[in-house]
Amino acid sequence: MNEKRSSFTGKIGFVLAAAGSAVGLGNIWRFPYLAAKYGGGVFLLTYIILAVTFGFSLMMAEIAIGRKTGLSAIAAYKTLDKRFDFAGWITALIPIIITPYYSVIGGWVLKYLVGFLSGEVAAMAEDSYFDSFIGMSWEPLIWFAVFIGVTALTVLFGVQKGVEKVSKYMMPVLVVLTIVISLYTIFVMPGALEGVKYYLMPDFSHFSVMTVVAAMGQLFYSMSLAMGIMITFGSYMKKDISIEGSVGHIEIFDTGVAFLSGLMIIPAVFAFSGGDESALGQGPGLMFVTLPKVFNVMPGGTVIGAAFFIMVFLAALTSAISLMETVVSILQDKLHLGRKTAVISVLIFSLLLGAVSSFGYSIWADVKILGMQFLDLFDFVSNSVMMPIVALATCLLVGFVLKPHVVIEEAELEGNKFKRKKLFSVVIRYIAPACILLILVSSVLNAYGIIKI
Ligand code: TRP
Repeated sequence: MNEKRSSFTGKIGFVLAAAGSAVGLGNIWRFPYLAAKYGGGVFLLTYIILAVTFGFSLMMAEIAIGRKTGLSAIAAYKTLDKRFDFAGWITALIPIIITPYYSVIGGWVLKYLVGFLSGEVAAMAEDSYFDSFIGMSWEPLIWFAVFIGVTALTVLFGVQKGVEKVSKYMMPVLVVLTIVISLYTIFVMPGALEGVKYYLMPDFSHFSVMTVVAAMGQLFYSMSLAMGIMITFGSYMKKDISIEGSVGHIEIFDTGVAFLSGLMIIPAVFAFSGGDESALGQGPGLMFVTLPKVFNVMPGGTVIGAAFFIMVFLAALTSAISLMETVVSILQDKLHLGRKTAVISVLIFSLLLGAVSSFGYSIWADVKILGMQFLDLFDFVSNSVMMPIVALATCLLVGFVLKPHVVIEEAELEGNKFKRKKLFSVVIRYIAPACILLILVSSVLNAYGIIKI
């Protein structure tokens, strides 16, 4: 406990590091397909409302816990209250489940990146291209192995800083490219405006409990909440930096990238399919099916497509590195493994679990658990079950055991302001626990087919 923690230099450093880890496939790949599937405008509205209340309060709480204790999640929960030890352990399991399937998607990105670089745009724009790619038993596995291999090598040789530096300069490029692609689609492609309407104008007839369930799961995922990562970040944060200000910036950044990605993809889906339901509801393949079609017709599409997929690859890589690093440091701390042994263990385990996710689209396509393929199952268990449990535990710990004033005092240290502390106290004690409970129960009942939402 007495070991010195290095800390970020100032607020910008903190915000950039946290945002760099938060912005990843969650924003670019996951958000648009959920928004398309679960109601467009109502999903966006639900997500934003949750982000500024629930996401805000939970991130405040996690960063404050981390900074107050100076500990990582597993130790922090236990130190604050023994009864909450279990939450620390669940936070440790979550990145172990996410890392493998995250890297499978990273492999898909790599495949498309190489496809653009070798000028196969027309082939990739074919309707059946994505399905026949992920339907192959071995090829996706090889791309996945390359992706996770690069991640593991980076972690093993500790060259994260280098990768992060490169990706820091790439992020603004990603944002600009996303805007350019959106503008092209919206203003040039016939039918795209219908998609803009679907995405921006809430139509409450599309609202369902699933809209809230999906939006909340996405919030956890995208902002890297409820898995201890923000506690760890907080433990490195200096006392004179405003937690509220930092949380505001991270949220704006993270939500901004997600919003723009939706604006890039959803109108394009309408332009190519007329907004038919099956196209909107296709799930994880949405980005991979839709974007090559845009690049195929866009002037300079091959170059823009290649540049875009390079950026997505870097965003995915920095997140994967941060996920794997989390698992490695847990193994080092808890099992006292050496760094090299820890990295190799994580790599082998992830290769096995990732292969299961990947085979779920090919040789094991018929195997369904609770009506889900393996990748969807891992995603569901981590985002819709384990993260809500951790979030609920965090709310109860902060709201009723420690009491909100502990977070408020931490946030107001050294003259910093915490303007939304009333909102924070109410959300963390009552609103958030009630929502999480509702969501946890309904998503589990839904998975077991007891209710249909
Ligand atoms: N937020 C990341 C994304 O949007 C995914 C993620 C969740 C993550 N938890 C994390 C990344 C922890 C790094 C560390 O893609």
